[in-house]
Parts: sequence; structure tokens; C-alpha cells
Amino acid sequence: MRILGRGRIKTVLVTGGAGYIGSHICVELLDAGLEVIVVDNLSNSSQEALNRVEKIAGKTVLFYQIDLQDKARVKTVFETHTIDAVIHLAGLKSVGDSGRLPLKYYQNNIYSTLVLLEMLEQFSVKNIVFSSSATVYGDPATVPVTEQFPLRATNPYGRTKLMIEEILRDVANSSHIQVVLLRYFNPIGAHESGLIGEAPNGSPNNLLPYVSQVAMGQRDKVLIFGGDYPTIDGTGVRDYIHVVDLAKGHIRALQKIAENEGKGERCQAYNLGTGHGHSVIEVINAFEEACGHKITYKIVDRRSGDIAECYANPNLANQKLNWRAEKTLPEMMKDTWRWQTKNPKGYKSD
Ligand SMILES: NC(=O)c1ccc[n+]([C@@H]2O[C@H](COP(=O)([O-])OP(=O)(O)OC[C@H]3O[C@@H](n4cnc5c(N)ncnc54)[C@H](O)[C@@H]3O)[C@@H](O)[C@H]2O)c1
Repeated sequence: MRILGRGRIKTVLVTGGAGYIGSHICVELLDAGLEVIVVDNLSNSSQEALNRVEKIAGKTVLFYQIDLQDKARVKTVFETHTIDAVIHLAGLKSVGDSGRLPLKYYQNNIYSTLVLLEMLEQFSVKNIVFSSSATVYGDPATVPVTEQFPLRATNPYGRTKLMIEEILRDVANSSHIQVVLLRYFNPIGAHESGLIGEAPNGSPNNLLPYVSQVAMGQRDKVLIFGGDYPTIDGTGVRDYIHVVDLAKGHIRALQKIAENEGKGERCQAYNLGTGHGHSVIEVINAFEEACGHKITYKIVDRRSGDIAECYANPNLANQKLNWRAEKTLPEMMKDTWRWQTKNPKGYKSD
């Protein structure tokens, strides 16, 4: 087993580790020689993802199917193991659902975090990395977006991220806990093995799973919301980042806080993006290259709350975390297509 940094991180608890991003992070943690414990209630994931993580890494993950809101059961995990750091991904993430069910989002995302932080305080766990989002920048006045931009969410999901960032900042200022806030831009792609990837329940909320389901013939066409934005071709522009690059960013973040050992910034935010934007049409064209056939799409009205253009300035993460997104858009498409064709029903076997 390896130990990360002078802060001696060897065992990492990953909340939401069975999910799309979490499963890719587990692979990177195991590859880095760390011990991995996952707590997930499987509300939006499958334990099969963790079986596949073990297959890729050739190492085991300790899994607890627990809802993070269940304080007594979460406490038993902290009583049983010495945890050195937490990567906190567990949460609900659909912008649309959060508008319809705001209380469910506040209850699940915020209360889970409060339970977790109480455990960190009680069991003297010093380090936490939180999955935040570019959504905390709302509709940025200009691009690329730096960490200094004003924070302003435009929907309940985004507000849970903002509120959790604030809570974590307060906790970092008042306790032994060091915090890294990772603001993800648009994670896509899948592990190159084709064994793990994004497996949405029901209708996908994000572009890529939708495009790949159309490419598979499982859906008729891609609906593009808005063709009259002031962008290169009128469609929305986003910073798509390969999920494996994103996962590697978490290892660098852990390394950073392990080296800090309580010195330096107690709560630091980093953008994890490529620094480049691609329009919806560019993504569809790149996907056509990967799958070898045309993808039908239709441009419809803009969706309320959507923004024209958002991409990161990732310089801070490049410099301070010594991390850089490396994979190209064609690689992201190729890996998504491999995952989709090998697993047309996601993790379901029937
Ligand atoms: N995918 C994206 O585009 C994106 C972008 C920015 C930020 N994020 C954030 O990254 C994190 C991971 O996203 P993802 O795409 O892997 O989503 P996901 O739904 O695949 O993973 C989240 C996991 O958390 C679990 N979970 C939810 N509530 C829980 C609870 N109360 N207790 C225990 N487990 C619970 C789910 O079962 C799921 O496995 C989320 O916090 C999300 O908001 C995602």
C-alpha cells in the first residue's frame, strides 16, 4: 500500500463512489495504491460499477450501501476504519428535477454533507475534496471563467453546490479540516477499457448519453435546445472534459492537501476543465466520426436557464495541482462509443 504525501493519506472514503465520476475516481485511487471505501445508497448507480472497478484495478473496494443521511450507519463506517481523507461526490444532480423537487435536493445534498462533516470533526479526519460544479458561476459575464468570478447559481441544484461550498469554507476556517473544492466543467467519456461509464437511469439529462443513445438507435434524434446563441454556430458551447482526466485531478488534489499538512490555504477552489469550448454541433460531428454514421438532430427553442457559453480557465489547477486535462474531444467520443456499444443497457444485464 502507498501513502500519499507527508500528510500520510492511505485510506480514502469515496461517497457516491458507485456513480459515474466516482467509479472512475476509485480506479485512479486504487492505481495510486490507496485503500478505497465507498459509501453509496445506489439511488442513481449500480454495485456492478464497483465490481468492474475491481476488475480494472485488480484490487478490492470496500463497499457500504448506506444513505449518507443515516447518521448512525455512517458513524459505524468511521468507527470501523481509520479514514485519512474523504472525496464527497454523493448527491442528486439533475437541474430539471431540482426545479421540480427543491426540498428533495436540499434535504439530500445538504443534510448528507452535514452528517459527513460531523463525522469528520468527531473522528478527526483532516481532509475533504468536494465535487462542485461550474454551475456555481451561473451565467458568467465573460469566458474563460476563473475561480475569482462571482458565484451565483441559477437553479436549486446549483444552489446546493454553492451552499455546500459556503459550509465547507466555514468549517475549514473553524476546525482542523482542509478543504478542496473541485469545480467540474462538463465531464464526458468513459474508461478506455469500456467497462465503466455513464449509465443514466431513465432519460439522460446530459448531452453525451443522449447523443450515444441516438447513435445506437435507442432514440430518434438529438434535440438541440437553441440554435441562435451568439456562438460559433448558434448552439451552446461547453468545456467537455474526459472523466479520466477529471478523476486524476482528484488524486492531485489529495496530494496537495497531504503535502500542505495544515499549512497554506485551508479551503481552495479549482476549476477542472480543458480551457476550450465546443459547441453542441461540434460534439455531434465528432461523435459521428467515432461511431461512423450520421446522427439525426433537431434544433428547438432555447431551454430556460441555459447559457450560451461556458469554459474554464484551468491555470490554477495546472500550476498548483500540477494537473492538466490531456485527452482530446475525439478520444472522449471514441471512449463514450466503446462504452455504449459494449454496454447498450448500461450495467443492466437483461
Ligand atoms: N456529471 C456531471 O456533469 C457533473 C458536473 C459537475 C458536478 N458533478 C457532481 O459530481 C458528483 C458526482 O456526479 P456523477 O455524474 O458521478 O453522478 P452520479 O449520480 O452518477 O453519482 C452520484 C452518486 O451519489 C449517490 N448518492 C446520491 N445521494 C446519496 C446519499 N444520500 N447517500 C449515499 N449516496 C448517494 C448516487 O447513488 C450515485 O451513485 C455529484 O455531486 C455531481 O453533482 C457532476
